[in-house]
Amino acid sequence: MVIVVAVAENGIIGRGDGLPWHVSGDLKRFRAITWGKPLIMGRRTFESIGRPLPGRTSIVVSRDAELSLPEGVLLASSLDAAIARAGVEAQRLGVAEAAVVGGADIYAQALPHADALRLTRIHGAPAGDVVFPALNVPDWREIAREGPFQGEKDEFAFSFVDYERA
Ligand SMILES: NC(=O)c1ccc[n+]([C@@H]2O[C@H](COP(=O)([O-])OP(=O)(O)OC[C@H]3O[C@@H](n4cnc5c(N)ncnc54)[C@H](OP(=O)(O)O)[C@@H]3O)[C@@H](O)[C@H]2O)c1
Repeated sequence: MVIVVAVAENGIIGRGDGLPWHVSGDLKRFRAITWGKPLIMGRRTFESIGRPLPGRTSIVVSRDAELSLPEGVLLASSLDAAIARAGVEAQRLGVAEAAVVGGADIYAQALPHADALRLTRIHGAPAGDVVFPALNVPDWREIAREGPFQGEKDEFAFSFVDYERA
């Protein structure tokens, strides 16, 4: 299981329901990393995306058993149920991993279960009210780093940093 997240230098990952930045280069990388895989996300993150992401199976975690979701989107009543479902889906799709794609509540609960972390560092300190949970640094080993990059459509420069569990 891999955690995929973009985090600013002040730890911010969200503002209200959305992202506090427009960084097209990160969205492209998110698509490439998650393509073809089962995605585990919290109900609030699913609502902020507002639609099933194409080419991937969305598994939405919610305590609301009546939550109505678009066809093809799976509902899980707990993180454990989502992880189990993601395993079955990964096998069905023929992929080796599932991705946890937020938000803060789900990241905090999923971190102890994750084998890898693919982080985009947003080089800025935008205002926001959703923070990535503190990482226990000794648990993680940096294995790759690229960037910084900044294209015309990127409000901030950004770098990609990959970690595996130490
Ligand atoms: N920068 C990034 O990479 C990134 C990525 C994703 C999201 N975000 C940002 O993060 C913010 C959303 O994060 P968030 O922490 O507010 O919400 P969230 O983690 O997306 O969703 C929280 C919801 O998930 C459900 N949930 C959580 N734990 C559960 C459990 N153990 N069992 C059953 N259901 C559970 C609950 O849904 P119910 O209330 O329906 O029960 C809870 O309200 C937004 O600002 C978004 O833009 C940023």
